Amino acid sequence: MKQLGIIENAAVLCLGGKIVSVGTAKEALRDPWMKKHRRSVTEIDCAGKVVLPGFVDSHTHPAFVSPRLVDFEKRIEGASYEQIAAAGGGIRSSLEAVRKAAKTALAAKILTALRAMAAHGTTTVEAKSGYGLTVESELKSLEAIRDAASRWPGTVVPTLLGAHVVPKEFQGCSQNYVEAVCKEMIPRAARRKLAQFVDVFCDKGAFTPQETERIFEAAAKHGLSVRAHMGQLSETLLAPFLRFNPASFDHMDYVNEDDIRQLAKSDTIATLVPGANYFLGLKEYPNARRLIDAGVPVALATDYNPGTSPTISMPMAMSLACTHMKMSPAEAVAAATINGAWALRVADRKGSIEPGKDADFAIFAVTDYREIPYWFGANHCTATIMNGALASRE
Ligand code: NIG
Ligand code: FE
Repeated sequence: MKQLGIIENAAVLCLGGKIVSVGTAKEALRDPWMKKHRRSVTEIDCAGKVVLPGFVDSHTHPAFVSPRLVDFEKRIEGASYEQIAAAGGGIRSSLEAVRKAAKTALAAKILTALRAMAAHGTTTVEAKSGYGLTVESELKSLEAIRDAASRWPGTVVPTLLGAHVVPKEFQGCSQNYVEAVCKEMIPRAARRKLAQFVDVFCDKGAFTPQETERIFEAAAKHGLSVRAHMGQLSETLLAPFLRFNPASFDHMDYVNEDDIRQLAKSDTIATLVPGANYFLGLKEYPNARRLIDAGVPVALATDYNPGTSPTISMPMAMSLACTHMKMSPAEAVAAATINGAWALRVADRKGSIEPGKDADFAIFAVTDYREIPYWFGANHCTATIMNGALASRE
């Protein structure tokens, strides 16, 4: 993760939304195809700037209607995540508006978020449902994600998070809700190809490890890959889930040494979302050093959501990773690009600037990549290129 493979005075040739060659500008100008087609080539001059692979934000919850400002104030006054949930705030308080919302209104919200993400350098986004928590409203959320994605030049990877919390109409009989997730939501989302992944919030106050296994089994049965929110509020043993080959375990504030050793040997990525720790005002952050030094591939994501991490900014997540998790700026770049791509199982197409991959770039008005996490709170991204399409902010 420390080896970025930086090329000074570089040039990238792209054709049909794909990267054709990467090297120095001199090499590009000597390229026989370039010589012949020089006049028909569109040149994007990035002189004096830094060009990165577009960020891959591998964990976001954009299918919501409103910010949760009451929770925000309560937390400032000292209430904890669990206290806010017990008082009727938290995830459950976002459900009614999503259930009532027209699909077009939800899609418009999601598209606004995707555009803001691109303006900060993100070109691939994982987008979860999870604020409807009825069969119909979860499918509507996934349809809204699909509609927003079709109007955005970047790439969206949809995830069904029907198992976000147990909605209040199922309180005391969570097994009936898990049944609905397994027997209705997952099969219908899979049949209509509305989701690539199934996610579960496995933690106290959400779903148990046993329920999570049941949901993973249903996902596997219907051909969907799995990922999970793990270790945000308390420790859950991870090893029993590895048989499902999860793409990623996310949050990971609490994780034991034995699981870290097992993860290092698996294909599962640890996705850290320091924006949530920051916004919740926590003193502790996930122990990125322990994971990275043990050989676990670490990705960074925003966890964009109305309750715990209302940010679309990958540079902000990177800055927090550097200042609070002791990741080097190079590690933060790798975690926000290629490792995010692995966490979504799209590393064959995304996450690095290599011939054959999609032409996804983020261009920054800085002269050194370390400035991206350094100037926290500022947006130095001047343009993004998504699947070959330029979206300029200048
Ligand atoms: O990733 N942990 C569960 N889900 C979100 C929180 C969602 C919310 O509070 O609305 C998270 O932090
Ligand atoms: Fe999350």
